[in-house]
Amino acid sequence: MTQDELKALVGRAALDHVVLGSVVGVGTGSTVNHFIDALATIKDRIAGAVSSSVKSTERLQAHGITVLDASTVERLPVYIDGADEIDGRGNMIKGGGAALTREKIVADLAERFVCIVDASKRVEVLGAYPLPVEVIPMAAAQVARRFAKAFGGRAELRTGVVTDNGNQILDVHGLRITDPLGVEVEVNQWPGVVTVGIFARHRARICLMGSAQGVSTLM
Ligand code: 5RP
Repeated sequence: MTQDELKALVGRAALDHVVLGSVVGVGTGSTVNHFIDALATIKDRIAGAVSSSVKSTERLQAHGITVLDASTVERLPVYIDGADEIDGRGNMIKGGGAALTREKIVADLAERFVCIVDASKRVEVLGAYPLPVEVIPMAAAQVARRFAKAFGGRAELRTGVVTDNGNQILDVHGLRITDPLGVEVEVNQWPGVVTVGIFARHRARICLMGSAQGVSTLM
């Protein structure tokens, strides 16, 4: 199976985790696009979706799925999203699609994060994938220097990308993140950091992983 076929497999499998009659939290990315397409088949049995990006909102609405503003929702039973890397405890690197801030906001509303990935995303230690960090533009150079000093990482500005919130993305190379929660908490405190793409406080409670053997449930 191709990587895209594996993504489609887990996108469809995630339907089993949707709580019928409720509002569904929806992430962003090519794996989630498959989930959105599958969600359309049960759209009359859900109360709508809260979306984590303009792109996902457009896809949901194209399927006729009602998209609710996050500020009107107090609680979501489940948030379904992909990841760039996931470790054995459900800690993730996210933000490859530059949607990390809204993804963390919607994940924070949810009782359960269900992560959907193909097997290439499973790692022992986070960091081989460059860590995305959304920054206020005037802080980008200072945040890059801090990464070099604190963790020996090399931050590169993602060119030609402005987030849905009007900010920039730094991609930090050369990290080996053995303490995801500690790094998340530390970087969150640096002035100008909007969101760091480590999801440890909002780690996945369930991970559906697609491989040639089918879908397995981790955690
Ligand atoms: C977007 C994300 C995505 O979940 C992550 O990049 C995985 O994307 P894909 O499903 O396309 O591999 O965090 O900001």
